Amino acid sequence: MKRIILLAIAAAALVCCGQPAKDTVDPSQYKSSNTENMQQVRDFLHKAGVCFLATEDGDQPQVRPFGTAEIIEGKLYIQTGHVKNVAKQIAANPKVAICAFDGERWLRICATLVEDPRVEIKKAMLDANPGLRSMYDENDDNTAVYFLKDAKATFNSFTAAPVEVDF
Ligand SMILES: Cc1cc2nc3c(=O)[nH]c(=O)nc-3n(C[C@H](O)[C@H](O)[C@H](O)COP(=O)(O)O)c2cc1C
Repeated sequence: MKRIILLAIAAAALVCCGQPAKDTVDPSQYKSSNTENMQQVRDFLHKAGVCFLATEDGDQPQVRPFGTAEIIEGKLYIQTGHVKNVAKQIAANPKVAICAFDGERWLRICATLVEDPRVEIKKAMLDANPGLRSMYDENDDNTAVYFLKDAKATFNSFTAAPVEVDF
């Protein structure tokens, strides 16, 4: 009996103090809280052309340019390759920040990325960005697509108050 109690305490300690529990969202079931806000963010990212995606690398932030941002099945997706450091950092901590500037306003997004393994979503992303097909294929092991979950976006400018939207 004593041994069982000790084992239960050890298991509870592992759950509480170990790695954060992985997100168990089913990508095919997830629904955005606000598709109009998401469309506004997607349109801003396309107007900006390039955004900057920040991840955590241990205690060191890392940031790099990203250009993919597509709404597929009612979710906003970005794309990368599993071989890249960015994908390894997202796997270790899926919380990211994204920043973009359209020449007038700037946008900051905080979100949790959820990887979607479905081939049809990878295909839709590559079909929307045919230039990527020289490097990626929906059936390779490298292509990785993620949607933004619990996203909070803030539109900023020098002339107006910040506008916060969730999606
Ligand atoms: C304008 C521009 C857009 C880019 N878009 C993407 C993108 O959508 N996905 C991607 O994986 N890499 C993209 N890249 C390349 C990444 O920035 C680059 O591979 C970067 O080194 C990845 O980060 P890492 O070195 O931390 O893995 C883009 C680069 C540029 C210049």
